[in-house]
Amino acid sequence: MIEAVIFDLDGVITETAEYHFQAWKRLASEEGIPFSRADNEKLRGVSRQESLRLLLAGREISEELADDWMARKNRYYQEMIAELTPDDLLPGVATLLAELRAMDLKVAIASASRNAPDVISRLGIESQLDGCADGSSIERQKPAPDLFLYTARLLKVPPARCLVIEDAAAGIQAAQAAGMVTLGIGPAERVGEADKVMPNLEGVTAADLTRAATWRVIEAAFEPARQNHLETILTHGNGYLGTRGTFEERFENDCQGTFVHGIWADVEIGFTELANAPDWTALEVWINDHRFSMDRGTVEDYARYLDLRSGVLRRRLRWIPAGEGQRFELKFERFASLANSHLMVLRIQVQALDGPATVEIRATLNGHVDNWGYPHWDLISQGSSHQMASLEVATRSTLKTLAMSAKLTTNREDVNIEGWDDPGNPGMCLRTELEEGGSFTVDKFVSVFTSRDVCDPLSASQSKLLESTKLGYEVLFDENKAAWREFWRRSDVILEGDDEAQLAIRHALFQLRIAASSDDERVSIGAKTLSGFGYRGHVFWDNEIFVLPFFTYTQPSLARNMLMYRWHTLQGARRKAAKSGFAGAQYAWESAETGDEVTPRWVTDSRDPSKKIRIWTGDIQIHITADIAYAIWQYWHVTGDDEFMRNIGVPVILETAIFWGNRVEPLNDGYALNQVIGPDEYHHHVDNNAFTNGMVRWHLEKAIELREWLHLNAPADAVALDRSLGITAETLTLWQDMAARLKFNHDPSTGMIEQFDGFFQLPDVEWDRYKDRTTSMQSLLRIGGANQYQVLKQADVIMLLCLLRDQFDHKTWQANWDYYTPRTDHSYGSSLSPAIHAWAACELECPDLAYEHFMHAARADLQDIRGNAGDGIHAASAGGLWQALVFGFAGLQLTSDDHTVTPRLPSHWNRLSFSFCHRGEWKVIDLRRE
Ligand code: BGC
Ligand code: BGC
Repeated sequence: MIEAVIFDLDGVITETAEYHFQAWKRLASEEGIPFSRADNEKLRGVSRQESLRLLLAGREISEELADDWMARKNRYYQEMIAELTPDDLLPGVATLLAELRAMDLKVAIASASRNAPDVISRLGIESQLDGCADGSSIERQKPAPDLFLYTARLLKVPPARCLVIEDAAAGIQAAQAAGMVTLGIGPAERVGEADKVMPNLEGVTAADLTRAATWRVIEAAFEPARQNHLETILTHGNGYLGTRGTFEERFENDCQGTFVHGIWADVEIGFTELANAPDWTALEVWINDHRFSMDRGTVEDYARYLDLRSGVLRRRLRWIPAGEGQRFELKFERFASLANSHLMVLRIQVQALDGPATVEIRATLNGHVDNWGYPHWDLISQGSSHQMASLEVATRSTLKTLAMSAKLTTNREDVNIEGWDDPGNPGMCLRTELEEGGSFTVDKFVSVFTSRDVCDPLSASQSKLLESTKLGYEVLFDENKAAWREFWRRSDVILEGDDEAQLAIRHALFQLRIAASSDDERVSIGAKTLSGFGYRGHVFWDNEIFVLPFFTYTQPSLARNMLMYRWHTLQGARRKAAKSGFAGAQYAWESAETGDEVTPRWVTDSRDPSKKIRIWTGDIQIHITADIAYAIWQYWHVTGDDEFMRNIGVPVILETAIFWGNRVEPLNDGYALNQVIGPDEYHHHVDNNAFTNGMVRWHLEKAIELREWLHLNAPADAVALDRSLGITAETLTLWQDMAARLKFNHDPSTGMIEQFDGFFQLPDVEWDRYKDRTTSMQSLLRIGGANQYQVLKQADVIMLLCLLRDQFDHKTWQANWDYYTPRTDHSYGSSLSPAIHAWAACELECPDLAYEHFMHAARADLQDIRGNAGDGIHAASAGGLWQALVFGFAGLQLTSDDHTVTPRLPSHWNRLSFSFCHRGEWKVIDLRRE
């Protein structure tokens, strides 16, 4: 978040721009040079020398004369500013300065003008400032970042935590080059690239300023120990692949990873995992034969951030190689294009600040990558020339081919380019001699294709590259930005009054978007997205229940793709059912390429690595099958996509219902589902888990309804489906009976729902004993232990209430909330749970309590409060945040052809706004506190 606000002076704090104009004009008319107000626009924020050059417009004058003219202009200017008083502060400035002070934000003025201190004292705002930097403080003027970096140092605030207010393009560029957030004052044509643009400061509040920073996830100061966490949250990508935010040149103990959807490779125990793809970002920078690395030499003015608005990861710093006094400015920028799935782009800029230097950049495609030490790839071919480098590899076990090609371009003529043919790590090496102040820009374009995309990935990647490099960096950059703009236009959530929550929701939605394939129906989003090694890329119920609603409501075509993944893996679900002796289709708890069960049966005990622990989820956490039916139904309900329902939805819902018809066990007085695991994984082998039974009951009811719907709407299809699935009148009677009499322990007198048979008989945990714990209740009590207590890993009954909210009355809601919430391991249980508790607390009209749960979810990744964000983004928590906002705080409910909202915002939220698409029509919800 923002810690300091740096104001430009002229045109921001006071209108001295007018005085500058008058002074230049007087000089110009005395010298007979034409100079208009329009000419003056170009002089904004520009140094005196540069202004004179612009004024002269090509006329030559001697250096002496130039000095004389500049001194004269300055004299005229000083005469005018001698008359400045506090009344000359521009509207809104005084109030804003006072507010910033009250908020304990640091405030400074940074101006190219050497008269700045004088102006400030005449305006009477000295006491409001923590610092003032003027043109005399630095060597290089704007658009170089020097003035702002100098100011940040003066304030002792890292550049990434500074916000600059500027009225000129050169100033905005300078602030951006310093890694700062920018607010542009004036017309968008002049300051358009700023993070936020406003006409002037009148009525602008501190909150308006700090909001400008809610599009960035930053690393303000280099923190070696936090790198794995940062790599995860700085993951960038485009739905085809995701790349962790590791440094291009790498760092000790980093956890580098690029995951391409669908590139599964076999492993022991976990069956299959997404193979870490060759590193497209690989880059070495050598300066005067010193290899750049974050732990060598001296790093200054460091700033790194992921721009969520455009998916670009940036880093800037100044580097002084060990044993040298010379400073170098280094800037890195990279993105995977959202406009073009197969394209990634990286730009590096090196500038020699203090003298000439030899700079060498080695850019490669590094195939020496592994998953937790296990290498998946065999090299098929590689090549490199000064034109292009390429690498072709295949997974050892599954024989999937991946090809990557790279091309480099540079801003300089005098560059020596050579191929660099390291085995498994081909690339190119560019070398140049930089003059003092000179800068060297290298653009690395990379294209990736796999054998899942085309028959010949290598030539596909090469031709894509030829076509893209022709367009050049700027065009590709703009295309990517436009694609992101389109995404945010539909999917952004605006939350005013809470910058932390605002940033968290944007980051969550960003991470979900880059995990969702734009066009591939055979992949879906894993529990850790494409951002880490956790859960090996496997897809859980996390996707259908937590992640999908966001897509269903705001990006329906992506939601459809992910539901199609379940269609394409139906065969695996059939095999799973058959393997356990059941008819129909049963979805895997963990799913990968084929839909077969890939949950590891055993994992190593972290306390004693010589021991293994049996994992039962793959055997008996069966609710996922009903969860998928729920997501299909929800998609249909929201989108009205009848075609999908007819061809995909109904067939899946019926075939999975057949599984339930088989799996549900008859009792004397009803039916049971014994020996299962519900959402609360602390309890295993339980009978009649309320969530499971509630969802199965719902599934069977919907199956009957939807079959009828199909008979009405597509009778021929319905008859054929009945026939192929063997659905008869008896099947329907059985489903009906099961739905009506499946055991569900709900006591109408109290409203209480028992989580499973016998739960209420278990002893309670003495919570007081565990007040200061830093780990989950399950690891403290051990697996067998947790099973014996009334302690929950995550929302279970509460989860059911949320999903089927209309089925339960207030009494039931309240009673179960009161009972289960204090028995849940909120801090170290499942990350899926806090967002759901936030939603549920809203249903009970407790927004401030909901807010606490919400922030717990919001901090799972950004603050790493669970300590495991290094493994990858918590996808379900990210999707849960959206649901908590939309279903919880806004209380959105769809009616058959319309919608209702029941706002219940936490007391400090001023606005919550979002869009969604209901049956083809876009709706905007904009809730504001009066
Ligand atoms: C949770 C499950 C979840 C899985 C993957 C587990 O810790 O208990 O509900 O599906 O993680 O995120
Ligand atoms: C999760 C399960 C998962 C298992 C194996 C556990 O930590 O809670 O949901 O199936 O790991 O991946």
